[in-house]
Amino acid sequence: MFEELSLHILDLAMNSIAAKARTVQIMIAEHARRDRLSIRIQDNGHGMDADTLKRVLADQTTTKRSRKKNIGLGLALLRQTAEMCGGELHVRSTPAVGTTVTASMKLSHVDRPPLGDLNATILALCAANPVVDVQLHYLTDTDRFHFSSKQPAEKKVAGPEGLRGKEKTNYEPGRTQKVEREGTAAGCLA
Ligand SMILES: Nc1ncnc2c1ncn2[C@@H]1O[C@H](COP(=O)(O)OP(=O)(O)OP(=O)(O)O)[C@@H](O)[C@H]1O
Ligand SMILES: [Mg+2]
Repeated sequence: MFEELSLHILDLAMNSIAAKARTVQIMIAEHARRDRLSIRIQDNGHGMDADTLKRVLADQTTTKRSRKKNIGLGLALLRQTAEMCGGELHVRSTPAVGTTVTASMKLSHVDRPPLGDLNATILALCAANPVVDVQLHYLTDTDRFHFSSKQPAEKKVAGPEGLRGKEKTNYEPGRTQKVEREGTAAGCLA
């Protein structure tokens, strides 16, 4: 198991990039009220057929040619972490469409690793993969943060003029931004 969840996230995002994804969406939802932490990595890479997905999950197989042994650890390690912390791992994949990996765990579990240096993870992914749109959506019970390495900020949220009601934002095009809104995380990544 990795000491920080951001390292799990890095591994999964690298899986997406190895699958030639053009967009890698990283969603993290911290629901303190429900005592749940969910991490979802969604990509539009080449995906896996049902047989491959079954093998990958059951036997920890890898398609990496560099491996002497046919073993991949990324998914297995995250599953171990999630299950150890009262949660689970789910993988959905469709060939030529993409893959979604979702891990959930108990936020307050004593063994839950910290998120770690998420900024460094996202920065490393962006710097090493300039053609890929690396997106981060970080949600809590009361706040949300969005970042996209490619899309102009106007496309991610409506922008100051388009926001409704009591939403507030420190909107800055092209930069990580924060949108404050009550209850926005409820139901996300459920
Ligand atoms: N997002 C994805 N899209 C397509 N295939 C994937 C994706 N994620 C995982 N896979 C497939 O599942 C295999 C296992 O992934 P896993 O992360 O467990 O190990 P690995 O990436 O092969 O090796 P390691 O993570 O140990 O460096 C991969 O080799 C790949 O074939
Ligand atoms: Mg991997």
